[in-house]
Amino acid sequence: MGSEDVAPKVARHMFGGSSPARNVADSQPFKEQEDDTLLCCPDMELPQNMKDDLDALPGTSRRCKLYSLLCLSCFLIAGIAVGVILLESITKKTAKGMLAKERQKWLDEGAIGLPPGFCEEHAMPVPDVTDPDWAKRAVQEMTEEEKYRLIHGVGFAGFKLLRGYYVGSVLGVPRLGIPCIKMQDGSAGFRTSDEDIVGTVTSWPSPLAVAATWDSKLVETWAAAMGKEFRIKGANMILAPAVNLHRTPFGGRNAEYLSGEDPVLGSILVKAFVKGMQKDAGVAAAVKHFALNDQESRRTSVNSVVSERVRWEKFYVPFQSAIDAGVAAVMCSYNLVDGKQACSNRDLLQRDLRDRMGYRNFVVSDWWAIRDDEAAKAGTNINMPGDDQRYSKTKLGSTLPDHRLDDMVEQVLRGMGSSGAWSDLPGDDCRVGCNCEEALYSKKATSPEHLELARNIAAQGAVLLKNEHSSGKPVLPLSLDQKVAVIGEACVLKVDVTDQEEVWTAGSYYGIGGTSRVLSPDDISILDGMRRYTENLVRSPTDLTGFARKAMQGSDVAVVCAGTTATESVDRRTLRLDQDALVGEVVRLGVELKVPVVVIALAPGAVVMPWSAEATGILMMFPSGQMTGLAAADLLFGARMPAGKLPLTIPQEESDALRPCAERNCPYQEQLFSGWLLYTSRDVAFPFGYGLSYTTFEYKPTKLLGPTEVGSVHVTIKNVGQKPGREIVQLYMRYPSSVPDIQEEPATQLRRFHRTRELQPGEAEDVVLKLSARDMSIWDKTVSDWMTVYGSFKVGVGASSRDLRLCSTFVHQKDVSEAEVSLEPCRWSDVLSS
Ligand code: BGC
Repeated sequence: MGSEDVAPKVARHMFGGSSPARNVADSQPFKEQEDDTLLCCPDMELPQNMKDDLDALPGTSRRCKLYSLLCLSCFLIAGIAVGVILLESITKKTAKGMLAKERQKWLDEGAIGLPPGFCEEHAMPVPDVTDPDWAKRAVQEMTEEEKYRLIHGVGFAGFKLLRGYYVGSVLGVPRLGIPCIKMQDGSAGFRTSDEDIVGTVTSWPSPLAVAATWDSKLVETWAAAMGKEFRIKGANMILAPAVNLHRTPFGGRNAEYLSGEDPVLGSILVKAFVKGMQKDAGVAAAVKHFALNDQESRRTSVNSVVSERVRWEKFYVPFQSAIDAGVAAVMCSYNLVDGKQACSNRDLLQRDLRDRMGYRNFVVSDWWAIRDDEAAKAGTNINMPGDDQRYSKTKLGSTLPDHRLDDMVEQVLRGMGSSGAWSDLPGDDCRVGCNCEEALYSKKATSPEHLELARNIAAQGAVLLKNEHSSGKPVLPLSLDQKVAVIGEACVLKVDVTDQEEVWTAGSYYGIGGTSRVLSPDDISILDGMRRYTENLVRSPTDLTGFARKAMQGSDVAVVCAGTTATESVDRRTLRLDQDALVGEVVRLGVELKVPVVVIALAPGAVVMPWSAEATGILMMFPSGQMTGLAAADLLFGARMPAGKLPLTIPQEESDALRPCAERNCPYQEQLFSGWLLYTSRDVAFPFGYGLSYTTFEYKPTKLLGPTEVGSVHVTIKNVGQKPGREIVQLYMRYPSSVPDIQEEPATQLRRFHRTRELQPGEAEDVVLKLSARDMSIWDKTVSDWMTVYGSFKVGVGASSRDLRLCSTFVHQKDVSEAEVSLEPCRWSDVLSS
């Protein structure tokens, strides 16, 4: 049977034909009505004062006068509307004209910073960047003007990015073989910072969607593929990865963050990202936003006040990992830390980042994040986007101590050189402001292979939260002979690229708004995705429950879509989905009509699901890019197996969640209990690390080797269900009670995880989770360093933070060699109570 569309049919029924009122009117003798009623509403008598006013006007019949007046009003309204439209278009044209003039002025004045003859300058080959001294030598050969060139951006006129420039453009020194630095956001692909870029690049799944795969290998592949697109577009640096933790689920940028709610998740994935981006693709990465930039409300003035232990054990962890992986750059953030702007904060950038984390490359400011004259001294190497001229010789020269400028430039060169971005790799090697337009706007970087990869990642990152039985089998996957009602506007969403371009913060259910936005003209909706599998669909593409009911009657199953959006610069006001009410109605209808209902939630972070108890199935997708619809359909029809797990918590109530700080001062009072640990003593709808598949796994105890300096946990995972699937095995740890201030330490903390290969029914994989000394350490604030803890550790291995299947205790002792400890079946509560 072909697909049906419920809404238009119902609409025709509602608005077509004649209304009873009209019939009554038609049956009245015309003459009687003539002057004292409105013809359109014949049973409405004109009030006496109106009749008197009409009589006072020249003319013969009241009716004629009445309609003349109505016509006049119509003309007036139409006139006003046309006026408004004209005015809007004139204003837009004038604004465009002014902008063009402004641009021209900047160009004429040379204010974009291109030194005379820069475009024509002959380029020498890139020096041997593997030589450890090359950066120092290159600095010695530079003129002062050349050194200043390398510490600020060019290409912005006011807030406007000029044509031919990347979001971040730093001029190189061609005569010394030093290329330009060409930076582009961002998190989910090559940012479509100009409408001409739209369609030439892939709109990839967001980092949060990728984090939900818990798959380092996939992260590396994703980063390498994005990096390849950057090179084709002529860029050699990506303004990513963003690894801030979800301190609050309301965070506007949570979908950009690869860490989700957990520092260990972020630290393992960011390593793979840096490898894929730098080593595999040859694009420098900038880990951001350092540091404690965990909300969008008051983002440029909020002051994060966080204890030393919390910083090191939580918020710095993914940054440290990126540094250990050799990340080229760190981006300092907008907020203040301990009362001082992050980019001018010596404690943050010198003491913590360089002295304690061992960072040796460069710090780039967030855009316009430098507000005073101290940033260069404090440790920020590059001022972005640079149009404020804060890092010009005139402004900076007198304040810089001896050698600081040289150090700043050397660190920039070292970061870029060591990242592989200046190695001889294929890609467009244009010079900014001179000849990058073709690469930036015309070259096609997306490809069918990349779209296929994007589809696969989107599917792997989807999290199946519920899959109840209906007619004796789980509701998902659907079978092709089932008639499926597809309900809700969110199932058919098409993003209007032109509309979105007008507002930089506009997000969609496929990607978040702000500077990381990658618009695509080819987004595939969930309905379109499903239609690739079957036409046996009844469509109800509105959010009206009347139509939903009609569509569900006679269908075997219903799929209802709901979503919500988020953006940089504002936090989310609510954790509810935009169509929360519709979903509630549809799941209730499902119970009434005995039609199982599968909810697809498209969300840029945590949401509340007050209807979850009545839904038969729930599939959650974080912003998943242009292939969202196909990936969803692959999972719905079982062509791919769901395997994602939550990188965050789905709270029971919105009031359980931590809100962003409302005041300028923002003390992190939850201390080490941030992210998913905030819910430690509360019930949640779905816990951190949770996710189902179409099969089931058995955890078989093997052994836990310890106590050693570096222990390892061995476990065998067997697919004991009927379908293929992957499991994400998670290892949580509880510290011994001998730890100083143990009451401050959360009861369970994620330490390691592993995603198995796809296991066929009956197949098993032996998993080894290796622990490092750092996994058994805490930050000792008395000496400001890591301290290895010895004593009795609890270890739990399982399928989520609240579903530990195997546990053990082992005593961690100094200098004791390997011993065998067995894992025993256990429950989460055992770990907590012991
Ligand atoms: C964002 C950064 C981004 C930069 C450049 C800022 O608004 O906070 O994440 O990289 O703009 O677009």
